[in-house]
Amino acid sequence: MNVSRAALLVSALLCLVGAGCDSDIRAPRTGSASPESAGASADQKDGATGAGVPGVGMNVLAAGGDFSPPSEDDIPDGPFGDVIRRGRDIFLDTPANAGEFVGNGLSCVNCHMDAGRVADAAPLWGAYGLYPVYRSKNGRVNNFEERLQGCFEYSMNGRAPERGGEVLTALESYAFWMATGAPVGVKLKGAGYPKGETPGLEPDLVRGKQVFDDNCALCHGADGQGQQVAGRNVFPPLWGPQSYNWGAGMHSLDNAAAFIRANMPLGRGGTLDLQQSWDVAMFMNSHERPQDPRFTGDVIETRAKFHDDPNSLYGREIGGRLLGSEPAR
Ligand code: HEC
Ligand code: HEC
Repeated sequence: MNVSRAALLVSALLCLVGAGCDSDIRAPRTGSASPESAGASADQKDGATGAGVPGVGMNVLAAGGDFSPPSEDDIPDGPFGDVIRRGRDIFLDTPANAGEFVGNGLSCVNCHMDAGRVADAAPLWGAYGLYPVYRSKNGRVNNFEERLQGCFEYSMNGRAPERGGEVLTALESYAFWMATGAPVGVKLKGAGYPKGETPGLEPDLVRGKQVFDDNCALCHGADGQGQQVAGRNVFPPLWGPQSYNWGAGMHSLDNAAAFIRANMPLGRGGTLDLQQSWDVAMFMNSHERPQDPRFTGDVIETRAKFHDDPNSLYGREIGGRLLGSEPAR
């Protein structure tokens, strides 16, 4: 099944559930969105005017600080453009285009939506100019390539492509191009996921399951394993063996709640309140998933070493089960 058929299927499903059949739904994994919709998406999110000037190198920060990435049509011709396009293809369909480094059913675009363009879904243009940076995750300064390696090891539950190799060079070129005209060393509006707020009540599993049943199960499945057509994900899994592992950013409640609140249910981002987003993040992340690759052989020790954070449920006992101690299912 090809990419546009997957997108069609999603639209059809959205119509069925009454989420709407019109153009305000961003179809996933198209990557060939029209220049207008693609270039303006970051702006639309924040209700700004879309002041980006067409043409490579001419993107500007609009008043209010909104950044517009260049449109697909602006990818240059020639060898550099070919590498940028290769990076885009890896980003949109990682198992098909960099499969040897992927250990689950996900693609980058599942969490960095609309080809890595959307504000508040950790857009590539918001990330590129923030590296190199010190990361407590591994206790040293990381450059952008190392950051990408981490995505493969954790979010993709795979193994890191080598630095300077073809895969990381392509992804880095794509991100570099996406950030054309963006200032360096500045956290842009819409970069990352919109974290920072915590809900009034402690997140709760029972409430979270209700939010899940009402808003998520239809696409991601009542068992959270997503939905596959001809061996490919139409809706990605949220837990289980084909999902991100216990070391991934999305396993942290703050990241998951922020991503969900801004972007889910698909096409209706911003409709869950803060409490619902945390409750459903708690429900989602209290299921088993692939082991943290840094596992020392002991869950409690691994928690103490790498998960000493209230946002991590790894190594905590929830509903009589020690999370991280059982096979993913
Ligand atoms: C399961 C969801 C998921 C998948 C799949 C995923 N990521 Fe991420 N990614 C995240 C989360 C969560 C963060 C952390 C964002 C934050 O801390 O604000 C992140 C961060 C990043 C960052 C740094 C962003 C920043 O603002 O510093 C980059 C770059 C990135 N991912 C690229 C990729 C690439 C390339 C792939 C595919 C090889 C990928 N990601 C796959 C969830 C995912
Ligand atoms: C209408 C279908 C639909 C609904 C409803 C929906 N999602 Fe999603 N979700 C998707 C699709 C499709 C993607 C991948 C987006 C992409 O590739 O552009 C996704 C991606 C995700 C991801 C990141 C990828 C992964 O598998 O980890 C998470 C987490 C997520 N959704 C959680 C939720 C939660 C929680 C809810 C309910 C509040 C929800 N979704 C409701 C379709 C849906």
